[in-house]
Amino acid sequence: MVKVTVCGAAGGIGQPLSLMLKMNPYINELSLFDVVNVPGVGTDLSHIDTDTKVTYHLKSDDNNTGLSQALKDSNFVIIPAGVPRKPGMTRDDLFKINAGICSELATGIAETCPDAAVLVISNPVNSTVPVFAEVFKKKGIFNPRKLFGVTTLDSVRANTFISEVATNEADKAPSAFNIRVVGGHSGETIVPLFSVCAPHVYALEDEKKIDALVHRVQYGGDEVVQAKNGAGSATLSMAYAGYKFLHAVLAASTGDTTIIESSYVYLDDSIPGAKETKEIIKGLYGGESLDYFAMPVVLSKEGIKEIKSDILSRVNNKEKELLKICCKTLAGNIAKGASFSQ
Ligand code: NAI
Repeated sequence: MVKVTVCGAAGGIGQPLSLMLKMNPYINELSLFDVVNVPGVGTDLSHIDTDTKVTYHLKSDDNNTGLSQALKDSNFVIIPAGVPRKPGMTRDDLFKINAGICSELATGIAETCPDAAVLVISNPVNSTVPVFAEVFKKKGIFNPRKLFGVTTLDSVRANTFISEVATNEADKAPSAFNIRVVGGHSGETIVPLFSVCAPHVYALEDEKKIDALVHRVQYGGDEVVQAKNGAGSATLSMAYAGYKFLHAVLAASTGDTTIIESSYVYLDDSIPGAKETKEIIKGLYGGESLDYFAMPVVLSKEGIKEIKSDILSRVNNKEKELLKICCKTLAGNIAKGASFSQ
């Protein structure tokens, strides 16, 4: 039996994400949780004739026991709960509100389904993932192999945007690309590694084109925020990206296959590749090593099986510079998240 809980299921991301999850053959029960509007979303989805059973829970249900009812026996919890960005707001502006929500949800998970894999979408991911980790550490249930910051939208955008500038006909399909994006999930902390991408795009020998592409991936979210003109941030592309990542984690959890996807993770020394990643970051950055970084990770039955540190030793000089800038900002973002719970 596989049970997935979506926290923030009635929101802009939560609704399309829940729709896609209702169609996923691995999931037996889809549990929807929110502070408002979730009975409507749940009832609507429950009429769809796929086999996944839908349950829904408001926080205020049965004397505020809605969260524990939603989370009971969950194997996977995906979290698009919180406030989205408005024009002029950075992801860090969201921190104060969303960190409180994340802390509350982390406490519920630790007390109700401590073995679940937890996928964090709520921004700023650079800081909200440390909030989850610190709550889990305090509760004595932290498993770094099962805590994921969802950064898939960065690779999704990189694949799309590079295909738009490719001149070679064969490379014009976004699906031809699998660009790895490392670092963090906000502005300059997002580092797309185009130099190690396959297929190689010759148009990108032009440095200005690469700079423009890197900038577009780093600030792609702003395009959506501006286009929505005050009505929120990326929801449909994010729901797709969240679904893509959760599907990979689910598929790998069956044990039939291993899958490599990028995610913002805690670099715990017990995970193969974590120490190497920290050493490379330290060498590039020159400062303290970082405890969290988005990296390609090998997913398996136990969650993260390995961190693919080797990709960092293949980057070009330009990407090394981007990584240095990333690390400086990321160090502050991590400290902010970690100190929130302490
Ligand atoms: P939204 O406002 O449409 O939906 C958020 C939902 O969370 C609402 O239904 C709200 O009622 C619910 N919520 C608020 N407090 C809650 C609590 N304590 N427990 C459970 N649910 C709660 O926002 P949207 O657009 O769906 O974005 C959600 C989050 O995802 C934001 O933090 C946004 O910045 C982030 N995001 C992350 C991306 C990523 O790549 N990781 C990309 C785009 C957005």
